[in-house]
Amino acid sequence: MIDQASGLRKMQNLQQVKVVAVSGGKGGVGKTNTSLNTAIALGQQGKRVLVLDADLGLANVDVMLGLRVKRNLSHVLSGECELDDIIIEGPAGIKIIPATSGSQSMVDLTPSEHAGLIRAFSEMRTQFDVLIVDTAAGISDMVLSFTRAAQDVILVVCDEPTSITDCYALMKLLSRDHGVFKFKVVANMVRTPREGQQLFAKLTKVTDRFLDVAIELVGVIPFDENVRKSVRKQQVIVEAYPQSPASLAYMDLATKVSQWPIPKQASGHLEFFIEQLLAN
Ligand SMILES: Nc1ncnc2c1ncn2[C@@H]1O[C@H](COP(=O)(O)OP(=O)(O)O)[C@@H](O)[C@H]1O
Ligand SMILES: [Mg+2]
Repeated sequence: MIDQASGLRKMQNLQQVKVVAVSGGKGGVGKTNTSLNTAIALGQQGKRVLVLDADLGLANVDVMLGLRVKRNLSHVLSGECELDDIIIEGPAGIKIIPATSGSQSMVDLTPSEHAGLIRAFSEMRTQFDVLIVDTAAGISDMVLSFTRAAQDVILVVCDEPTSITDCYALMKLLSRDHGVFKFKVVANMVRTPREGQQLFAKLTKVTDRFLDVAIELVGVIPFDENVRKSVRKQQVIVEAYPQSPASLAYMDLATKVSQWPIPKQASGHLEFFIEQLLAN
């Protein structure tokens, strides 16, 4: 009886979280801007948002927001502190987990680190509605595992041949080897809405022909000088210039994200995401 009761309690504690990975293959296409602006716009809409900075090479998110990071996930893994101790607060109340900087990869954890990480996430005191994972460029194991474990995958592309081919390569690998067949595309830095549609059409032309995937255009973000200005001020555009064209587009995207359903089964839980993340 006691076991049953504690099992039930544990189930009720399981958090329903929408996990969205932001990827795209190429660097410099606007993944971090998309992650943060969407996160902060969701925060402004009253959602409880957690951002996982999974770009391990560069301490991306905190630099972009001008935040100071003292400890990161590696300190949680080594048992020096808990997850709640490393979480930092950003604009609009969003919370950020700085991942490890340097070479340690979360896909090479020892069994005890692995168990420790799952426990750390299940013991987290704060509840969240949305987890946004900002991934690194490229198609490393880390990028693939974060993307595979998320419920929704946003791919950021811009109208450059290398962005389109890298995005295609990522979809090919994810669909062929990792069971991910659905992708949500954000066309970034476009000059006109029509250019966004055309960029998406270019992508569909190759995916329809060669891949077994379903892609959907979920956002068209205009090229906006204020994005760069905000980056220089260590802010994001939805905060610094909320009326600017790119801000309005990010706010639309955030509204869409909040309407995407959370799976009712296990895959809607944070712990499940972490388990998936660590599964080989
Ligand atoms: N919509 C946009 N309009 C203008 N410049 C942009 C836009 N999106 C991104 N950028 C520029 O591109 C740079 C790279 O963006 P970032 O989000 O860091 O890319 P990634 O995370 O993919 O490497 C930013 O510093 C910014 O100056
Ligand atoms: Mg980035």
